[in-house]
Amino acid sequence: MLELKDIHYSVERKEILRGINLVMGEGKIHSIIGVNGTGKTTLAAVLMGLNGYKPSRGEVLFNGKNITNFPTTERAKLGITLAWQIPANFEGITVREYLSIKKNSVEPKKALKLVGLNPDLYLDRTVDENLSGGERKRIELASVFSIKPKLVILDEPDSGIDMASISAIKKMIRSFKKMGASVLLITHSERMARIGDSVALLCNGKIVKEGNGKEVTEFFRKHCKECDHIGEIEEEILK
Ligand SMILES: Nc1ncnc2c1ncn2[C@@H]1O[C@H](COP(=O)(O)OP(=O)(O)OP(=O)(O)O)[C@@H](O)[C@H]1O
Ligand SMILES: [Mg+2]
Repeated sequence: MLELKDIHYSVERKEILRGINLVMGEGKIHSIIGVNGTGKTTLAAVLMGLNGYKPSRGEVLFNGKNITNFPTTERAKLGITLAWQIPANFEGITVREYLSIKKNSVEPKKALKLVGLNPDLYLDRTVDENLSGGERKRIELASVFSIKPKLVILDEPDSGIDMASISAIKKMIRSFKKMGASVLLITHSERMARIGDSVALLCNGKIVKEGNGKEVTEFFRKHCKECDHIGEIEEEILK
């Protein structure tokens, strides 16, 4: 359903994405794992077609259609959506309103329950800085869920969420799959990455390994956590 072909992206002559190839299946969870600064959020921005994130080379295909030059709004219309690593604020509207922006959205109560928040306590609160970072993050995830996307990009959905609540977030990610959506799950947590039907390891703007969760996360633990390859995994390690 999504295919990335040789995606390159540079800023000020620095190449951040260096030829990303990825094929995502329908209704599948694909994890991307990588340490800080490897290009994960940049890839998410390129996929959403944000301003200034046009790839210098390569193509993005969505259900066979070349969307490389589509603006973000057109991608959103196709059902592609993204939950940010750090959520934006929409001050002044209630959680209920925020979760009912789109017609035919999932019932706000259901969406909140799914991310482990009690609807009775949150539906009438306003989406502003009085919500904690973790609450804000969950509400953002609930809102992405409620619009029933076809492809959802989750940039570190576990960041700012306490360990005890990670299982709620995992459950929500699986619910996307049940809904028939494809998920691109960006993370640096091995536990989170393992939910994926497949896992890709991003290193210095390149996918250097792809496979099942166990295989790739073990490789990540062994070689990437205290990486001394200065962003480059040596060929002999990859063999
Ligand atoms: N506009 C920019 N100008 C210069 N460098 C940039 C710019 N945007 C991103 N970078 C650099 O590109 C690299 C990748 O950034 P990115 O945010 O994609 O990393 P990430 O994998 O999401 O990291 P994290 O795990 O910390 O969220 C970083 O070294 C970052 O400093
Ligand atoms: Mg990031």
